[in-house]
Amino acid sequence: MSSAKYLSIFTPTDAQQRKANFESYWEFTQQHGGALLEADQDLEKKRARLQHFQDNPVRLRKPLANPDAFYRNYITLQDDINSLDPMTLMLTAIYKFARHEWVGIKGAWDVVPDMANSHTIEDKISRVHLAEEFCHGRLFNEMLVTCGLDKVEWVPLSPWKEKVYEQFPKFPGFLMDTPAFVTELMGVTFYFNLYELFDKVLVDEPEVCERFKALLDEITIDEVAHVGQRRNFIGNTGIKIAKWLVAPFYTMFFNDIPEVGVLFDVKKMINHGLAFDFNNVPDYMLERSWIPSYCKA
Ligand SMILES: [Fe+2]
Ligand SMILES: [Fe+2]
Repeated sequence: MSSAKYLSIFTPTDAQQRKANFESYWEFTQQHGGALLEADQDLEKKRARLQHFQDNPVRLRKPLANPDAFYRNYITLQDDINSLDPMTLMLTAIYKFARHEWVGIKGAWDVVPDMANSHTIEDKISRVHLAEEFCHGRLFNEMLVTCGLDKVEWVPLSPWKEKVYEQFPKFPGFLMDTPAFVTELMGVTFYFNLYELFDKVLVDEPEVCERFKALLDEITIDEVAHVGQRRNFIGNTGIKIAKWLVAPFYTMFFNDIPEVGVLFDVKKMINHGLAFDFNNVPDYMLERSWIPSYCKA
């Protein structure tokens, strides 16, 4: 079929197009998130959205049968993974994925220039990007609260992993941009798979299922834009390397979250990343998101 509206995220481009796309993204991101609330690592519109969810709480019809199973396994898996029910596995997987993201941005926030010291459009974009990621942590936390899990702590990773995450943003762009892009792509892959899982795991909890989807949409719409934005940092050699990194990166990252291998098909997720081209992103998301001009057919 040749009716595809969008081209592969790995489509080559040139420096001039990338410059124009940074300008276009900067315009987009300012209206998308509203004012940056730097002291709070927050954004005006995103804060209002979270407040809306918190002011209109949804809770499980039937409380979690075994919240202790979550609390026992959410930081490190303690039980036999096959003894855990899908709901617990899904919630611990959500926490573990979000925790990695949170650790990564926490390290980067202190290293990249703040808005007052951001003199290039790329620096400004990166500052707002990080604030958006902090908002994602809050939205994920809201999912857990929806299930009555209000004692969740956001704990750092082991000291050496924290160190790795802290060093990462200090790397020069040509080393950092490619893995940073693949990480965003992996996020979008995970969120699309998670969205489908909600229908299975929350089949008896329609209100919570709807709420989870609404919370996840807020995240995924940003992440779809991040994929294009991070792709825009990369030249034509880098984008070939990025494609080559998808399989090892996804494999390494998801190996660290054993729940993912039980809940999802990691091979399928790798193929999703390699084939990503915006055509399967629903219109209601694309309307609020951003796509690089060179990925439009
Ligand atoms: Fe995120
Ligand atoms: Fe992101």
